[in-house]
Amino acid sequence: MERIIAVYTGTGNTLYAARKIEGYRTVLIEKVLSGEETIPDDTECLGFAFPAYCWGVAYPMRRFIREYMAQRDNSALEYVFALLTMASTPLYTLADFDKELGDIGIALAYSACVKMPDAYLPLQKKAVPEEKAREAFAKADIRLREISGEIAKETISVAKRGPLFRFIRAVSMKAITPQRNRLSADGRCIKCSLCERICPMGNIRMSEKGPEFGSECISCFACYHRCPQNAIAYPGARGQYRGPVPSEELIRR
Ligand SMILES: Cc1cc2nc3c(=O)[nH]c(=O)nc-3n(C[C@H](O)[C@H](O)[C@H](O)COP(=O)(O)O)c2cc1C
Repeated sequence: MERIIAVYTGTGNTLYAARKIEGYRTVLIEKVLSGEETIPDDTECLGFAFPAYCWGVAYPMRRFIREYMAQRDNSALEYVFALLTMASTPLYTLADFDKELGDIGIALAYSACVKMPDAYLPLQKKAVPEEKAREAFAKADIRLREISGEIAKETISVAKRGPLFRFIRAVSMKAITPQRNRLSADGRCIKCSLCERICPMGNIRMSEKGPEFGSECISCFACYHRCPQNAIAYPGARGQYRGPVPSEELIRR
């Protein structure tokens, strides 16, 4: 019997975290949606791994639940869990996810979160320095060992809602709606197209002039941080956070 974790990752933290869960195979949700990967109908143990975005479930994972999981025959599922990565405070993200699954008739058995370096630039502007990232991963590894042990025992424990849950969920859903971002490319671009292939939203098209950014950006900053030439600019931002997995493993198309 296969045990699978469906992963949405922007900059790689979540893929790294999901791979630390023993006994499970990870699949990127974009590859499931394109048919390159499958979650077989007889899957009994299924995890979902994703980052907190604006105090809620990252947009691509919410869409995956609504558009893919809602259409699938989920009757074989016996143990379902969520693994959340976040940088400071996820607030009710795990309770939000519990509701997403509950709305399509899937019962979440276990949820847990782990702290990781932040790739979000609008607030901090400067990318997380390597040394700080290393320290964060050393702590995250300890937490991930605990979580892996709990999942192996099929522990039942789900994050609860708190005050203002509905309000915060509504605000978060609005905040993560895809929209145009202030990203641009400068003269260092060598048109390698990595940004186009890495963008989880398929929002970047390489043209003669360089990358063109559409209006479906979810501000994951994967393109910015992974550009091999550091040629993608965001107003006021400096440095790149390379993340814990090679860029090739984040290619979605
Ligand atoms: C658009 C965006 C919004 C974020 N919002 C939150 C948040 O509300 N709370 C939090 O703790 N971390 C937040 N973060 C940090 C990420 O959850 C964290 O860095 C995560 O590990 C990134 O995972 P990834 O590398 O798999 O994309 C946000 C990051 C981004 C890019």
